Amino acid sequence: MAEAESLQAHSAEELESLRLKYLSKKGLVSQLMADFRNVPAEQKREVGMLINKAKDALTERFNALKAELSTTEDDHSGLDLTRTPYPVRLGTRHPLSIVKQEIVDIFSRMGFTLADGPEVEDDWHVFGSMNFADDHPARDMQDTFFIESHPDVLLRTHTSSVQSRVMEKNQPPIRVICPGRVYRNEAISARAHCFFHQVEGLYIDRDVSFTDLKQVLLTFAREMFGADTQIRLRPSYFPFTEPSAEMDISCNICGGEGCAFCKHTGWVEILGCGMVDPNVLESNGIDPNIYKGYAFGMGIERITNLKYQVKDLRLFSENDVRFLDEFMAAN
Ligand code: DAH
Repeated sequence: MAEAESLQAHSAEELESLRLKYLSKKGLVSQLMADFRNVPAEQKREVGMLINKAKDALTERFNALKAELSTTEDDHSGLDLTRTPYPVRLGTRHPLSIVKQEIVDIFSRMGFTLADGPEVEDDWHVFGSMNFADDHPARDMQDTFFIESHPDVLLRTHTSSVQSRVMEKNQPPIRVICPGRVYRNEAISARAHCFFHQVEGLYIDRDVSFTDLKQVLLTFAREMFGADTQIRLRPSYFPFTEPSAEMDISCNICGGEGCAFCKHTGWVEILGCGMVDPNVLESNGIDPNIYKGYAFGMGIERITNLKYQVKDLRLFSENDVRFLDEFMAAN
């Protein structure tokens, strides 16, 4: 019993050798049990009790040592706590998610709320309700993926379809932004992809003017690209806005000096915008005699390229961890 008390084990190996010596099938206790046969009958009772006590004491000691060893192991008491810990590999948010969130945050601060709609859409929400006449040449502007068996069903080519989804369910005032994925039937290259991402903005109320649009876009550009950023609006054409414009920002890579990215013009186009065409309001159940609105749409990849100078669009969808890890700090 005293021997049991004095047993020590400082490692799993030592503990195991104790087990082998005393408690295993060929251990001391088993041997005693085997020898028990030879004990004279009149001593059996006493010797039996002693063997049992020894076995209990050894088992108890063994369990105590085992428990002690596992707590010291949990304590990591052998560890050098001054060492730099192993880096815990955290995932990173995708650069497009980071930029999308930044865009959403900026517009949220100006009172816009989020809205979304389906990626598999019908002709009405993508084209019809957006003032594309059946034979309108603008329909050809966008190479569309149609669902073969259902010519009316297609992958949305722009998030402008969400404008229609929002208007058919809500009366003004409406102030939403709608981020989402869009699809176009393009050959995949460094500069084009068959899917990409946009953010649509829509504001409808009484007395909305082009000035409001311009101010909101200027605020956005400066929040996104820095307080020195300049904007310029060039007249353009979209079926769903009248008048329409495209907005450039002063190139934030060269600061407007001229570089390869801005093709030495000092300006880069980042979005399309305009006053919502009264036909669009009417088609979507909003009275154009009472309400006016503005809308804008931008590509998230483009904004991301400007912020992070990603030169090849394919990187965004290839899931190369070496590329994604570069955005660790931006998370
Ligand atoms: N839907 C257009 C596109 O995909 C972008 C756009 C332009 C959206 C003008 C708008 C807008 O809301 O007013 O190219």
